[in-house]
Amino acid sequence: MRFDIVTIFPQLLEHAMQYGVLGRALDSGLLRVGVHNLRDYCHDRHRQVDDTPYGGGPGMVMKPEPFFEAVNALRTDGHGEARVVLLSPQGQAFDQETARRLSRCSRMILLCARYEGVDERVRETLVDEEISIGDYVLSGGEFAALVVMDAVARMVDGVLGNEQSADQESHAQGLLEYPQYTRPATYNGLAVPDILIHGHHEQIRYWRRLQALKRTLQRRPDLLGRAELTDEDWQILGTL
Ligand code: ADE
Repeated sequence: MRFDIVTIFPQLLEHAMQYGVLGRALDSGLLRVGVHNLRDYCHDRHRQVDDTPYGGGPGMVMKPEPFFEAVNALRTDGHGEARVVLLSPQGQAFDQETARRLSRCSRMILLCARYEGVDERVRETLVDEEISIGDYVLSGGEFAALVVMDAVARMVDGVLGNEQSADQESHAQGLLEYPQYTRPATYNGLAVPDILIHGHHEQIRYWRRLQALKRTLQRRPDLLGRAELTDEDWQILGTL
């Protein structure tokens, strides 16, 4: 899969993606990323990406031309068709399902806006979808682009070494993850649940499912309505 990111802070993104899962996926060639400076698509002396809003009011608005030029250049660069995504607090809420869906694209172009926003014509005619990573306002789309790229990349086949781990994680099946422990069996008087040490495979599986359901019910009951629940899950929920 290929990501192209358009931003006024290319170095911020280039640096952040060198680490961990993303870094390894880039090194191995499973992922390819191009980071593009929006200012390279400005033609005035100051390479200005923003301007005052029509109708007045505070703040600046990002100009349409650099975004259009950047996307048009990327669309004809020989790297194939792409889904164009604008990061913005006005977008659809990003979740695991969206990450899974986007991981099936062969290429994404992520547009990072700054300042008060972006000229509406970019939204209307250049962008395929607009994504928000949460109900809060960031100073720009760069961190949101990293969040989206990380979550999407994890769903691409081969990016996680252990294929199983993507399915077992929180949200993968619509539930929060069960509690995990590692050695030592007792730390500062705090013991690992006995069932994980002495239980059989089936007992451990049941315990983990119960814990995942319990935790989801307590912390994020809104998720239960959308989760894929089995008859056993309903039976467990009846006991909670
Ligand atoms: N840009 C600013 N805030 C944002 C958010 N919450 N999600 C995505 N992009 C943003």
